[in-house]
Amino acid sequence: MKVLVTGGMGYIGSHTCVQMLQAGLEPIIVDNLCNSKLAVLDRIEALTKVRPIFYQGDVRDQAFLDKVFSEHDIQSVIHFAGLKAVGESVAKPLEYYDNNVNGSLVLARAMRTAGVKSIVFSSSATVYGDPTSVPITEDSPVGATTNPYGRSKYIVECCFSDFYDSQPDWSITLLRYFNPVGAHPSGSMGEDPQGTPNNLMPFIAQVAVGRRDKLSVFGDDYPTPDGTGVRDYIHVMDLADGHIAALNTVGQKSGLHIYNLGTGNGSSVIEMVNAFSEASGKEIAYEICPRRPGDIAECWASTSKAEQDLGWKASRSIMEMTADTWNWQSKNPQGY
Ligand code: NAD
Ligand code: UFG
Repeated sequence: MKVLVTGGMGYIGSHTCVQMLQAGLEPIIVDNLCNSKLAVLDRIEALTKVRPIFYQGDVRDQAFLDKVFSEHDIQSVIHFAGLKAVGESVAKPLEYYDNNVNGSLVLARAMRTAGVKSIVFSSSATVYGDPTSVPITEDSPVGATTNPYGRSKYIVECCFSDFYDSQPDWSITLLRYFNPVGAHPSGSMGEDPQGTPNNLMPFIAQVAVGRRDKLSVFGDDYPTPDGTGVRDYIHVMDLADGHIAALNTVGQKSGLHIYNLGTGNGSSVIEMVNAFSEASGKEIAYEICPRRPGDIAECWASTSKAEQDLGWKASRSIMEMTADTWNWQSKNPQGY
């Protein structure tokens, strides 16, 4: 099956393409390389012995997308392309809404023109805002988002939901990721943030490899066991497999399908620091700092709906997440 993968050169997209190729699926990648490098294609090829078809271009360019759809018999789309830095979205809201919302609308129009009716969309646990209870089920309230990035994901969910109501023969799958971390176990692919990392795991990895002095731990006065924030970290390889499971099950059935992709377990910042130390044999220097505005105390997923409908369950442990991140970071200290 040929699958258009937007943003397929990025962190989650590239790992998903590797797993797709191993599963006999044919990804056709569209990416404007605004947050990724061409070298990713070589790494995918080295791992899978297949060089995926790649188009450099923007999902907001419908003429470009029309051309890609006309050149291949595409059956489904996985839509990763978008901007994802929460802090940057506060400074550049128009860019975020244009890329994430407008990009999704243009893509949906191009799919309609091409008669392709199956899409899997990268949403986020951020649509739940500050959860009223954990674990978070797919029926938990959504929409109380705290920043333009989160709102852009929520708006796209609303657009796709309204669009589905008008086109009930489509298959639209909204996957709400929790906290993706880790890297390909080979150490040849991983997360390669530009500039200072916003997220915990790449920051810890850069401290371990000597690129940064110490980690700032944002708050130790949350109502959690050790006072630091608790999140549901999920290995990027499990996440990649979750997309394939979605494509193979609900992706073939009309409907508006919504799933959490998480492990169902919460880990604190300090637990992640300790796990990384153990996996890498490096001490991770840190200092306790004030809370980061907009952060929530804790969040983790209810995973039963994905298990039941997709037949998918995350299996990789925190030790694998930290060990694989260290393997990637130590072999590629400056990224790609
Ligand atoms: P990433 O930045 O590594 O990958 C996104 C890719 O999309 C990049 O290669 C970038 O060059 C490309 N891109 C961006 N705008 C584009 C456009 N207009 N046209 C074509 N290509 C474009 O990010 P990621 O971590 O792999 O995230 C993938 C998706 O998952 C994003 O939509 C993100 O919002 C979502 N998500 C990520 C996380 C996370 O923590 N990483 C959590 C929840 C949801
Ligand atoms: N943290 C630190 N120091 C850092 C970075 C993070 O202490 O330098 C803490 C945060 O306060 C939080 C935890 O580590 O308690 C995780 O923070 P991340 O920035 O790694 O992740 P978030 O949960 O804040 O956000 C991530 C993605 C969002 C997504 C959200 C929910 O960045 O895009 O998960 O899926 F919306």
